Amino acid sequence: MNRLRILVSSLFTLLVVTSVAVVNCFFFPIRQKQRNRLVSVVNAVKLSANTVIDKDNNNDDGANNKINTDCFSITANSSSNRRRNFLTQTVASTTAAILSSSVVSSLPLPVLSVEEGTPVEEKVIEFGASWSAVDGLNQMNDSNAQNKVVGFDMNAYKAMRDDTTRTPLFETAIKKRLELSGQDNNQIVIDLGTGPFALFAIIAARYGAKKVYAIEANAVAAKSARESVKKAGYDNVIEIVDGYSTQVELQEKVDFMIAEIIGSIASEEGVYATIKDAQRFLKDPTNPNNWIPNRIQTFGAPASYTLHNLFGPPEFDWTRLNGEPVRFSCRDNGLQLLSDPQLIEDISFFLLGKSHTNTTNIEEQSLSFTVNKERIEQNMKPLFDELQKAKGNDKQFSEKMAQETAHSFTGIAMWPRLFLNDDIVIDSRFYPTGGHQKSHWQTVLPIMSGRPIANLVGGELIKIKSKFELPGDVTKAPQYSIQGELKYT
Ligand SMILES: C[S@@+](CC[C@H](N)C(=O)[O-])C[C@H]1O[C@@H](n2cnc3c(N)ncnc32)[C@H](O)[C@@H]1O
Repeated sequence: MNRLRILVSSLFTLLVVTSVAVVNCFFFPIRQKQRNRLVSVVNAVKLSANTVIDKDNNNDDGANNKINTDCFSITANSSSNRRRNFLTQTVASTTAAILSSSVVSSLPLPVLSVEEGTPVEEKVIEFGASWSAVDGLNQMNDSNAQNKVVGFDMNAYKAMRDDTTRTPLFETAIKKRLELSGQDNNQIVIDLGTGPFALFAIIAARYGAKKVYAIEANAVAAKSARESVKKAGYDNVIEIVDGYSTQVELQEKVDFMIAEIIGSIASEEGVYATIKDAQRFLKDPTNPNNWIPNRIQTFGAPASYTLHNLFGPPEFDWTRLNGEPVRFSCRDNGLQLLSDPQLIEDISFFLLGKSHTNTTNIEEQSLSFTVNKERIEQNMKPLFDELQKAKGNDKQFSEKMAQETAHSFTGIAMWPRLFLNDDIVIDSRFYPTGGHQKSHWQTVLPIMSGRPIANLVGGELIKIKSKFELPGDVTKAPQYSIQGELKYT
């Protein structure tokens, strides 16, 4: 009997030990994996770089359509069924080309705090964001810069080429500029940042330029540009010049320059420093006709944003973005404007030669916006439609979420405007309303508080101070800061 008891007890111990070993073997790595994935959830916004949307051919910006469901499905695991569908579907169907690159921002976002019991009419809520441009020439001092700088991939270049709101207007402007000089075919041109298709260089050659210098910093793009030029049969007219314009010398001065190096915040690709330096290439840099574009602007307006309302703590911590903006297709209805847009940035290329080289240009602006009641009401429907496109959202839920989003403020949305000459202007959103439209440029939205500023009814005053620091030195990144307050009426 005793032996039998010992045998049973030994078998039991063996079973327990084996089970623990099995559990450890199989489940620990999974738990480890889960933990890693959970960490990635916290970073989901950043990790989902280039995450967008294609159901409406909405990816005008050439962002990768793959949906980083990994980041969001983990969050979904801890949520209800509806929310899970909502998270995966909504991420697929609304926003979110979010910058993947490292956050270089200095200041953390303010976490929203309003004292309980404060009467609504006295409430003033502060918000703000500061960030550093991640495109452009700011990594020139990196030894491996040729591979890293100006993060366009082939999809992005194709989106620019195929942007019907941009490329045909450039073509007309180039043709008109060449016509200005008569029939002599004597024009010498630079296409600064020609890209892999040497797009504008070939257009200039086709319309009769005598010589085109096509400068390109990205070595891979420059190689493709050379092939594109050969294929188009213009290798006797177009010379591809490898390298940064700031490090290039040409044997002759040129008549005019095409430079499409404009960011979604117009200055964020380092255009200020590049164009300041590029004055030296032109015979007459003070003539607006010698620049295409000759003036660039950034417009901005307070905006509501679905995902900011939808995702919140504990699963989702927007403050982890540290001010780095979220980027949208200009047709994305997940973002709606609360007021009429205003001018935030304005740079005229033909005036840049007058200031000293290498000095940082600091543009400071104080602007006031009043939240527009009609806009709030009009925004509800597109927000609702957007939410309804996500499978699994019942009508009631979409209505509630659209209602909440429409009455909330997330940050100041921004987008560019380009003047190609006196007559031809490119708008990436409708001018002057800021309405949605097709464009490969994105709408940039820094999230300006941990949670949306809620319960807006119209009439609230939003005051901002923007500070855009544009170094004259191409190796330094532009710095952006917008601080402000919202006052309930
Ligand atoms: C926005 S893409 C435009 C490409 C093409 N021109 C088009 O419009 O489709 C800008 C290009 O300019 C290049 N670039 C930007 N700054 C430059 C600089 N200072 N010197 C040379 N290339 C530059 C980038 O590598 C990139 O290929």
